[in-house]
Amino acid sequence: MKIAIVGTGYVGLVTGTCLSETGNDVTCVDINKQKVMMMQQGQLPIYEPGLEALFQRNIIHERLRFTDNLAEAIEHAEVIFLALPTPPGGDGSADLSYVLGAAKDIANLITDYKVIVTKSTVPVGTADKVRAVFKQHTDIEIAVVSNPEFLREGVAVEDFMKPDRVVVGTTDERARKLMAELYAPYVRQGNPIIFMDERSSELTKYAANSFLAAKITFMNEIANLCELVGANVDMVRLGVGSDDRIGKRFLFPGIGYGGSCFPKDVQALAKSAEDNDYHFRILNAVMETNAIQKKIMVEKLKKYYNDDLKGRKFAIWGLAFKPETDDIREAPALEIIGELLNEGAQIVAFDPEAANNVKYLLGDKIEYVDDHYDALAGADALLILTEWSIFRNPDFALIQKSLKAKVIFDGRNLYDLDKMTELGFYYNSIGRKTINDSVPSVA
Ligand code: UDX
Repeated sequence: MKIAIVGTGYVGLVTGTCLSETGNDVTCVDINKQKVMMMQQGQLPIYEPGLEALFQRNIIHERLRFTDNLAEAIEHAEVIFLALPTPPGGDGSADLSYVLGAAKDIANLITDYKVIVTKSTVPVGTADKVRAVFKQHTDIEIAVVSNPEFLREGVAVEDFMKPDRVVVGTTDERARKLMAELYAPYVRQGNPIIFMDERSSELTKYAANSFLAAKITFMNEIANLCELVGANVDMVRLGVGSDDRIGKRFLFPGIGYGGSCFPKDVQALAKSAEDNDYHFRILNAVMETNAIQKKIMVEKLKKYYNDDLKGRKFAIWGLAFKPETDDIREAPALEIIGELLNEGAQIVAFDPEAANNVKYLLGDKIEYVDDHYDALAGADALLILTEWSIFRNPDFALIQKSLKAKVIFDGRNLYDLDKMTELGFYYNSIGRKTINDSVPSVA
């Protein structure tokens, strides 16, 4: 099948590459000429595990190409995916200008039936708006399909190739058949393609992400309570998650959810409810609670250092909003760093993939190192902000030797409490008791 992908961000690139992998002929188009040139030369602009091999293979086999020319990209395409940004506008609702702008440009170019697929996360009613833009600019018949993505960064290729489900919102019979054919190779294990109307499909995406954000937030609050009542959230998590109705996944407490999806989607759904005169109380509580959770480590640090962080030096392990990505959008690390700098602290940071993105944003306000152990020299404490695998089993003797004091604040619960007790570190994690509480901070 001939496919065009408009927008080569995370979603567009993964979608385009994975669709070419099953033999489709895919052209990706982007207005950023420099990025297009890079991709034409075989350079992948993002880090996503497993994507590189597929990207290279399909370029070589000429099933995947890149252009900055929209007309060229859509000329032979039967299906056109819109994978454009929908950033939060000033009032929290999703800004549709990129999506509707592209719809207008496409409408002015097409000469035959096309299936227009919105892949971006868009508010309920967007399919109708896209359809209206087409009606305004062309008489050619088109179908608008809502096909939300459920890709998790870090495992996006796997999620695309073997999805739990594919949601397709359309009432157009021809479009439905094309979409069924397109996704057939990806749902062979029996996972469903769920067909529905456009509005239900658009809402499904927001509901799924908001539910997951609420699930994490609920566990974060349970963790905070665990610390107060002397319970261990690891145990509570297992006990609770063993109930099939709840499930074991997505119950890990931490320093607040981040990323490009959850914060934006929860906010947009709350706004969209508000626009329909519905006050979605849980969502507002989720947003408020997550904002507090993102500050929790700084609060703990202030308490430990008697409200005086001035001149303290902290080693930070992990900057990305989660492991296996270089994405720092809404990363709790950024907020923590901002607050620590405000308090007059000094920071040396390491991240396996995301350091350059932070450097781009913060420049030399903090120091960066290429090896995680190099961050520790002379630091008052180690702060763990992202659960990269490389941090899971470190050389504790080396940590102890390098740090000024044996102090670890762990926002991701990486280490075993008994082990930390034995090693003699002051160890503060999330929802578990503080270990070796009497270890001095070193004045
Ligand atoms: C998410 C959805 O999972 C995906 O389906 C959707 O399409 C896009 O948004 P992503 O943003 O890549 O994917 O990250 P995800 O793995 O879902 O994690 C989101 C945030 O929640 C991260 O900040 C992560 O650290 C946090 N999280 C996740 C927890 O704090 N605890 C958990 O148990 C799981």
